[in-house]
Amino acid sequence: MKIENTMPCSQLPEAPPQTGLQFTVATEEDFDDIMAMSQDIYGGLDYLPTRYQAWLQDTNRIVILARKQGKVIALESTCIIDDGETMLVEGLRVAPQERGKGVAGVLLRFCSQLVKAKYPDVKFCRLTRDDPLGPKDFQKYRLITKQGILLVRFRAEDLKLRLAELGPNVGIPEDRRPSCAPVHLDPSEVHQLFLNSDLMQEVLPNATIVQDWQPFKPLSSNIAILLKKDIDWLVDDPKSPTVTSLCTYPFRVPIGEDWYYLNIDVFGKDLSLAMQQFLSHLRRHTSTLKGNVMCQVFVDPPMWKPLADFCRTTLGVEQVKEYTEQCVVEADVV
Ligand SMILES: CC(C)(COP(=O)(O)OP(=O)(O)OC[C@H]1O[C@@H](n2cnc3c(N)ncnc32)[C@H](O)[C@@H]1OP(=O)(O)O)[C@@H](O)C(=O)NCCC(=O)NCCS
Repeated sequence: MKIENTMPCSQLPEAPPQTGLQFTVATEEDFDDIMAMSQDIYGGLDYLPTRYQAWLQDTNRIVILARKQGKVIALESTCIIDDGETMLVEGLRVAPQERGKGVAGVLLRFCSQLVKAKYPDVKFCRLTRDDPLGPKDFQKYRLITKQGILLVRFRAEDLKLRLAELGPNVGIPEDRRPSCAPVHLDPSEVHQLFLNSDLMQEVLPNATIVQDWQPFKPLSSNIAILLKKDIDWLVDDPKSPTVTSLCTYPFRVPIGEDWYYLNIDVFGKDLSLAMQQFLSHLRRHTSTLKGNVMCQVFVDPPMWKPLADFCRTTLGVEQVKEYTEQCVVEADVV
């Protein structure tokens, strides 16, 4: 399944005339205009600047811009996953002065029709949201799964020292201490484990691997996509897993000179095992990193509070936000 992002603008269908919009396929030259429109997004933690070039090269993806009198005013990217069954919507944004006028809705419908025309096998549209969903959203979408989002920040050098002081089992009660260290998975082990639905049924929420906001069904084609990314895969026990976690390598965000982002997606319900893997990821990535880190940890909702307390009181890191949720939602493509 391949979507060419080199499609000339003239091949895109026209926007409904009453909208006054034009749609074009994004190119490298549009980068500055997109960044100008995105300045306020996610409090400076926008991932798009880091991902944009890769998105344009991505063979399963299309990035569409909405323009008004030639000026870029909105963006949406759509990526085909799940063996061609699902269109994943990402990066949606509308320029601040154009919000609240229905632009996002028009762009979403346009992209959905575009994908449907080119890929009639696409059945579902999925997206991940962190804004509170209301009854109107649930008329349109069904909830696939949700995770609690813990956002903390720290200086890598400070946390490295703190972790060294605290020792390997900090935060885990003596009677709950895992008997073994978490296991790093290599690519063949990732395939073996994540494609084994019997083993992973109790671990993955609603059979979904949500990695850095992207929800994937555990399918071989999706694992291939995931394995192309720089991710550390951990599990407590590959033969009988209870908790698994995926951690991005630190990547830069434009909030400041030496700011990095670290995303840790944790699946499973055992707090001690989750803490053990969280600490293992932190140890690994603070060992060489210098600078400020924004760390986003996604966990089963009941784990959020104990993990947040632990981060603040024991690790001494700053909690940036109160509890928010990452919701994976799905609609049928009609
Ligand atoms: C969220 C945002 C894109 C909405 O743009 P907008 O043009 O003001 O939205 P609209 O006026 O079209 O009205 C809302 C429509 O967008 C949809 N929408 C709103 N927020 C959405 C979101 N986070 N993801 C997907 N769809 C969303 C609504 O369901 C609605 O669709 P409908 O017309 O089919 O009912 C805009 O406020 C924005 O750019 N915010 C900052 C970036 C951001 O938070 N992006 C979302 C996550 S990537």
